[in-house]
Amino acid sequence: MKIRTILLVLLTMAGTAAGLQLLGCQSAGASSSRAWAADKVYVAPGEHDKYYGFLSGGQSGSVFVVGIPSGRLLREIPIFEPRAAVGYAVHENDPRRRELMATGGVWGDTHHPAPSETNGVYDGRYLWINDLANGRVARVRLDTFEADRIVKIPNLQGAHGIAVVSPNTKYIFVNGEFEQPTDGLTTNPAPYTSVVAFLDPESMEVKFQVRVNGNIDIADSSKDGRYAFSTVYNLEQAKDPESMFQYDRDAVAAIDIPAAEKAVAEGKARLQNGVPVIDPDEVPGILTLVPVPKNPHGINATPDGKYVVASGKLSPTVTIIDARTLKIVAEPEVGLGPLHTTFDDRGNAFTSLFLDSQVVKWNIARAIEGASDYIVDRINVHYNIGHLQAVGGETMDPKGDFLLALNKLSKDQYLPVGPDMPEAQELIDISGEKMRMLSSFPTPPEPHDAVFMPAETLKGRVRQTYDLAADAVAEGQESVVRTGPRSVHVRMTLIRSAYTPEQFQVREGDEVTLTITNVETIRDMTHGFALPDHNMNISLPPGFTKTITFTAGKPGVYWYYCTNFCSALHLEMRGRMVVQPRDTTVEITDWHAAQNVKGRQVPGVPSTGAAR
Ligand code: CUA
Repeated sequence: MKIRTILLVLLTMAGTAAGLQLLGCQSAGASSSRAWAADKVYVAPGEHDKYYGFLSGGQSGSVFVVGIPSGRLLREIPIFEPRAAVGYAVHENDPRRRELMATGGVWGDTHHPAPSETNGVYDGRYLWINDLANGRVARVRLDTFEADRIVKIPNLQGAHGIAVVSPNTKYIFVNGEFEQPTDGLTTNPAPYTSVVAFLDPESMEVKFQVRVNGNIDIADSSKDGRYAFSTVYNLEQAKDPESMFQYDRDAVAAIDIPAAEKAVAEGKARLQNGVPVIDPDEVPGILTLVPVPKNPHGINATPDGKYVVASGKLSPTVTIIDARTLKIVAEPEVGLGPLHTTFDDRGNAFTSLFLDSQVVKWNIARAIEGASDYIVDRINVHYNIGHLQAVGGETMDPKGDFLLALNKLSKDQYLPVGPDMPEAQELIDISGEKMRMLSSFPTPPEPHDAVFMPAETLKGRVRQTYDLAADAVAEGQESVVRTGPRSVHVRMTLIRSAYTPEQFQVREGDEVTLTITNVETIRDMTHGFALPDHNMNISLPPGFTKTITFTAGKPGVYWYYCTNFCSALHLEMRGRMVVQPRDTTVEITDWHAAQNVKGRQVPGVPSTGAAR
């Protein structure tokens, strides 16, 4: 009895000791693995990230710029939505707002950032992005990180897939996901169809379109510029969702770009809303449909240009297609709900699995050989991953270091912020054989896709100040000029921490044109110009000039003030727009008088007060 008790105690102690040892070992392992991951993503204060990450803002209508690997948010570039914080498209007469209004409205749904390429790698000039909702494409300049063009694409609804034509950005092409009646609504029921639109990267003009039946989804080009590839689902051409997945195979559409150009040159396209549209039924050889299972989604060209990979979505497979012969070379199983594929620099592909909530790593050559061990690794992500992107995975120069999983649901990953959860991005190390989870960072809704650009690519290209524009107002050249019975032109400068003029007078209902220049030459010295009750906020980075027209409101004093904290006197940086009654007989003192009183006469300025 005694012996048994002692034995039991000993056994228990041994068990506990072993347990403790195991626990200690595990926790040491866990903590060293956490330290390893933390070290991979840690960017010390004052240091810069290795890559720019451009994440589409989805329903935010913007592009999020984050540093990779840190995940730090560097900038949100507003595109399809006004953003008062940076004075973007806020005021009715802002040219960008007018462009938005003329093309579909002040909101958008951005999905796929597509940077310009030279020789198959990002060159840092532009980035294009779609607005699925309103059939638009915008261009962002990567020297100023600002949208500079927004165009509406005719004959197309649901601008979804977008890609540049490699290797030198000959076109941007955009897929119309939502089919439209071929002849308007003149026959009932008219067959529905859609188009792929090819835009010139500089003029943003739609050069031609190619008609494709079905819902044209995601886009990528062959690396040699020959083919524009798009996945197409709903070859059933059904109009109700349940009928859209009857067929076991839909297609990858391969548009022969030189053949399409030739058809347009030979007048074989039909003008529709001013755009030449090629009907592949009438011009054979333009369009090849490669049958792939089933309601496919992503299409991604391998960095070596040999293959394109279509992800099966409703089939657990990916289809590997020879990018020159357009023949299917393999159809390996990868897991449930494959959506998109990206690549490293060692012949591996990474496919997102929406239903499995996983990234699967597989070897391209082994999958094509039919080897049984083509699956290399799997890693769980949180949760329901959509796009994924490895650094350089869309280019001919993949880096093979980091991969970002863009997950649709974050569930338990962050502190709850109400019923609407943040989106979850997870950064994964792909430098070894096994993938390793590094970090996670939230964003507002909803990044669909991302691309990464080496910081080196934009080094020397990103401007820190603006060159003075032709209409810039120079210091000493400020003026308030009555240009007509009911119009006034105010030419204003600002510099820490004053507006010149610091007041101007107008009459109610006057059309006021304000040309305003931030004459600072020091980087990061942005000033604002916010004018109460006139829906006006302008943000002026150093050197920037903006001209804006507005109507002077009810009589009263309106303080314009600086919205960007610029100096110790920031709060004092303000001025007055004095609006006199329309029929005032009061002599209105111009701002020079006020200047002179304070002994701050501005030389060379004609004394042309607002109203007399
Ligand atoms: Cu300028 Cu605050």
